[in-house]
Amino acid sequence: MTGPEVVAHRGATAEAPEHTLAAYRHAAEIGADGVEVDVRLTRDGVLVCVHDRRVSSTSNGRGVVSALRLDELEQFHFGARRARRVDRWAGDEITSVTDEPDVEDGLVLTLERLLDYATASPDRVRLAIETKHPTRHTRKVEEALVDALRRFGLLGNGRPVEWSGKPAVRVMSFSQLAVRRMHELAPGVPTVQLIGKRLRPVRRELLLGGDATAVGPGVALLRSDPDYVADAHAAGKEVHVWTVNSAADMDLVRELGVDVAITDHPDELMQRLAAP
Ligand code: G3P
Ligand code: CA
Repeated sequence: MTGPEVVAHRGATAEAPEHTLAAYRHAAEIGADGVEVDVRLTRDGVLVCVHDRRVSSTSNGRGVVSALRLDELEQFHFGARRARRVDRWAGDEITSVTDEPDVEDGLVLTLERLLDYATASPDRVRLAIETKHPTRHTRKVEEALVDALRRFGLLGNGRPVEWSGKPAVRVMSFSQLAVRRMHELAPGVPTVQLIGKRLRPVRRELLLGGDATAVGPGVALLRSDPDYVADAHAAGKEVHVWTVNSAADMDLVRELGVDVAITDHPDELMQRLAAP
C-alpha cells in the first residue's frame, strides 16, 4: 500500500461505539496501522478514554469526568449511546445512520486496559494518544501518561519504541504547553502538535520552532492551503491529518503525501490507498 499510515479515529467508530475496546479491536483486526484515543484524568488520577468533558454523550451516566472517581465511572455503561452522528460508507457516498448500541462490555475504558490490549495483541496496532484539556491539571495528565507508558515498556530510551518500523506511540495535543511538557518528560515519545483555528495564523512559526515531531492540522486546512504539507516537510515535521472521511479528502491526503491520516473509515481509506 502507498500513502499515509491509516489511524482509526476513536477506534473503528462506524462499527462500534467510540472509545470502546470493541471499536479498537475492530480497527486492529481490519488492519488499520493505528488507533486514535482521547484521554482524560479522573478525580482519583486515572487516565480514561473519553472524548467529552461530560460522560452523558457516550454513556448512560451524568457528570464531568474530572469530578468523578474511577469506581463511580464504572457504574455507567459506556457505548450505551453515541457521541455524534455516525456515518456509514456506501461506494463513494457516506450516509448517516443511527446504530443500535452493540458493545458487549460497557465498562469505561481505562488507558491501562487499552495498553494492555495493544501490547498483547499480535496486530501491533499503533497508538495516537490525544490528551484532552491537560492545562487544567498542571503536569498530572502527562505524568500519568508517562507512568503508564513506562509500565508497558513504551517509553523508549530517548528514542521511540517501534512496531513495524514506526513509533508504537505518539502523543498529540492542541495545547502547545502540553506538547512541551511531554517532550520534556519523555523525549523518546514523538509528539504531534494538533492545529485548531487559533493556531492557524502562526502556522509557519510553529512549523519552524515547535517542539513537536509532527504537526496535526484538520483536513480543511489542507484544502485551503495545499502548500502546507510541503512546507511542513521542508521544516522537518511529519504531517498527521484529521479527520479524513470523504473520498475527496482521502484522495487529497494521498496526493499531498501526508504521513498519517486519521479517519472514521479506516477500511475505506485502506481500500482507496490500495487502488492504483
Ligand atoms: O486526531 C485529532 C482529532 O481527534 C481532534 O479532534 O475532537 O475528535 O478530538 P477530536
Ligand atoms: Ca481526538
